[in-house]
Amino acid sequence: MSIWEDLHYHRAAHAERPIADLFQSPARASQFSIAADDLLFDYSKTSVDAHARDLLVRLAEASGLSSRREAMFAGAKINETEGRAVLHTALRNLGGSVFVDGADVMGPVREVHARMVQFSRDIRSGRIAGAGGKYTDVVNIGIGGSDLGPAMATIALQPYADGPKTHFVSNVDGAHVHDVLKGLNPATTLVIVASKTFTTIETMTNAEAAKSWMAQALDTPGRQFAAVSTSAERTAAFGIDPSRVFGFEDWVGGRYSVWGPIGLSLMLAIGPEGFGGFLDGGATMDAHFQSAPLAENMPVMLALIGIWNHQICGYPTRAVLPYEQRLSRLPAYLQQLEMESNGKRVAMDGTVLQHASGPVVWGEPGTNGQHAFYQLIHQGTGVVPCEFLLGREGHEPELAHQHRLLAANCLAQSEALMLGRGIETARALMIRKGFEGDELERQAHHRVFPGNRPSTTLLYPRLTPFTLGQIIALYEHRVFTEGVILGINSFDQWGVELGKELAVALEPVLTGEATAEGKDGSTRNLIDYLRSR
Ligand code: F6P
Repeated sequence: MSIWEDLHYHRAAHAERPIADLFQSPARASQFSIAADDLLFDYSKTSVDAHARDLLVRLAEASGLSSRREAMFAGAKINETEGRAVLHTALRNLGGSVFVDGADVMGPVREVHARMVQFSRDIRSGRIAGAGGKYTDVVNIGIGGSDLGPAMATIALQPYADGPKTHFVSNVDGAHVHDVLKGLNPATTLVIVASKTFTTIETMTNAEAAKSWMAQALDTPGRQFAAVSTSAERTAAFGIDPSRVFGFEDWVGGRYSVWGPIGLSLMLAIGPEGFGGFLDGGATMDAHFQSAPLAENMPVMLALIGIWNHQICGYPTRAVLPYEQRLSRLPAYLQQLEMESNGKRVAMDGTVLQHASGPVVWGEPGTNGQHAFYQLIHQGTGVVPCEFLLGREGHEPELAHQHRLLAANCLAQSEALMLGRGIETARALMIRKGFEGDELERQAHHRVFPGNRPSTTLLYPRLTPFTLGQIIALYEHRVFTEGVILGINSFDQWGVELGKELAVALEPVLTGEATAEGKDGSTRNLIDYLRSR
């Protein structure tokens, strides 16, 4: 039997065993959690037992994870469909040497990082100013990885934000750029056009809109812009002075790019020292990922629990539930990281995947989600594995009692999901409320919680730049591990191309410059509606 078959067999044999029964072993919690560098990852409230874990670790070993991991950190071209190295880790390990095509790439990385630091200091101090004086606002125009990383991190690190106010424009819907620019002073606003390729239609369209907005108010709009891109040629063609362009190489994937120049808006907001803490957190997780034995390796076990829940147990989605309001954009960030990386139907060699690809990832911060979709998580007919995140303390000591309430809610949810509430308890509850007979029975059934629903909990001391760096790198390596085990190339994204091509062809149809001939009936019908007045 293959390890996959063993896993399915083991799952089938224990499918009915309540997770709570695993706690008959008093060591369950400590043996099924990992503590590393101030983080605690508890996966004891899942149905993974010691044998399942052994099998999962064997699966990871057999996938060649260790050598693949080494290859990634060493700069090998593991993104085979694009012929590229995968070196976002180099952006947070500025001291070392990494060779791609025989050349050490770290010199240029350090040089651009140093320029970002200087630029940030100069903007934050006012030494570099806009047409109207010190910059008060920064608008990052980008989409996908050129938006979600800095946007998520800037919200997460608000307590450290002491620079210009940072805003983000991503959607090609004109409402987005309109609403963000409305109320800003062009003379004290710095626009960062952030695009790896500098061809992305949404970003370039929004950048043009910002340019005209600037040009209407200022004679020298150029000094209000900076750019972040791999294409010096295209940033020059857009009219951005090379001294304000921060380049990077194609071995930084869009959704892995917040650690380098794409993080410029974050650096401007929290300062180079705070940004350095973020990089150090990422580097600390890198060191753990590279050295910890697989069964004690946090990203590896996070990935293996995901594989158990999705590929083995067949749960189609995964909810990410940060009990931290400032991580409100983490689920959206992880949607791109996980679904753009591992939402693939073929393996690296082009053959159809033997197992399900990565799951649907979704979520919202608790406690808000509790008053919205947790109903389904507790009592719906499907099972949604939940990933809780919680800090030991917040940044508002005067509101410590609110943090305790937050923590109590987080722990209560994972407890409720696992233990549930049986029909006998529900009946007793309703009897105490005065119900009897058929009505008692009916009402009691509505109050049953099936329980036995898996969750993991990641605890951290406090959401500092360092901690955020650890968490983001943890998830990156989780996605990588999952991809290696499934045989997926986690670093390309061909699935976004077809829609982009069709959109380019459809725009002239909507203006009437081209006909809808050859389009399917539904699309023609929709076009007719949009074109009718
Ligand atoms: O369309 C998907 C994508 O290529 C993402 O992978 C990327 O993060 C985003 O678009 C933005 O790309 P760019 O930084 O080149 O504008």
